[in-house]
Amino acid sequence: MTASLDRTFNNPHLFIEGWYWAITSKELPINQVKPVKLMGRDLAIYRGKDGIARAIDAYCPHMGAHLAEGKVEGDGIRCFFHNWKFDSCGNCVDIPGLDKALPVKNKTWLVAEKYGIIWLWTGEKSHQLLPFVPELENDECEAIISAYFTKNCHPNVVMINAIDAQHFNTVHNLPLKIVFAKQELNQNAITFSNTTRGGEDSWLIKIIRHLYQKQVTYTMCYWYGSTGTVTLGPDFLHFHIMFALRLIEGGKTEGRTLLITKKRRGIIGWLFNRIILLLTQIVGNYFAKGDTQVFQTIKFNLQTPTQEDKSILQFIQHVEKQQALSWGSWLRKEEEIGSREEGTSKKVKSNLAV
Ligand code: FES
Ligand SMILES: [Fe+2]
Repeated sequence: MTASLDRTFNNPHLFIEGWYWAITSKELPINQVKPVKLMGRDLAIYRGKDGIARAIDAYCPHMGAHLAEGKVEGDGIRCFFHNWKFDSCGNCVDIPGLDKALPVKNKTWLVAEKYGIIWLWTGEKSHQLLPFVPELENDECEAIISAYFTKNCHPNVVMINAIDAQHFNTVHNLPLKIVFAKQELNQNAITFSNTTRGGEDSWLIKIIRHLYQKQVTYTMCYWYGSTGTVTLGPDFLHFHIMFALRLIEGGKTEGRTLLITKKRRGIIGWLFNRIILLLTQIVGNYFAKGDTQVFQTIKFNLQTPTQEDKSILQFIQHVEKQQALSWGSWLRKEEEIGSREEGTSKKVKSNLAV
């Protein structure tokens, strides 16, 4: 059966070309290599002697051994099986027993580190930004990676939970009507910010109103349709949580939760940050808990949108506008469609020949 590629949102065969979390920085010490499966593609991610993390396609172009079985050497990697060596650009630079290496190259991928995570760019080259918390764009940050989780539905569907205005009242019992305003930061990033302040009809609102000069701060920033940062809290103290998700087999999700705050100096700053990060975790857990079960059973199908689902529709549009890649091959959607059509026409021709 040929998978339908006509839409990108919630499509188990497509994901947006972008930066995705691969592993945590801590999991990759100097001179170590790790196997990583990312969006259906096998990779070997290693950290060279120079401390820089690099990513290369997993299978050796000689005979297909997984390069994560090999050894890091300088800023390159040597295959376990017949000891061919590949440099940081993936060029074969040494073959034991041969005076000159063969002109063979294995594909490498762009890698960067931020918030204690090794991120990988899934396209050819990138001038695009790594996901970040807009409010902390110019700050040095401290981050804690707090949880690894899986969900039984697509990352796009998990993501919309943060802008599903109505469910804040029905699931999380928030005594405040949330209304979002959207702003596109760039082609791959969009924010939704709450615009309401709340009435006097609940004791909680009466208390928290004093903590906000204008609207209650709640902003969600989406990156590549799969990573989101939430900013919330009173005017004098904002909490930041990042949910970095990626698409796994069968249209499901795996993800990491990151707690982020501005770096503060000195021992007092360090202590202060411990408390803030702990509070961030409590806030994050509260919101994560209420929804857990629905993501195990949902078959997302927004057939009857209401006014309160407007932000969700805007997010879907934003996803559709981005460059989609095919899960597994990482071909651009257009190339994937082209290669399938070519495959079909070849088949037709060979059938006619019979
Ligand atoms: S399979 Fe890698 S060197 Fe032979
Ligand atoms: Fe929720």
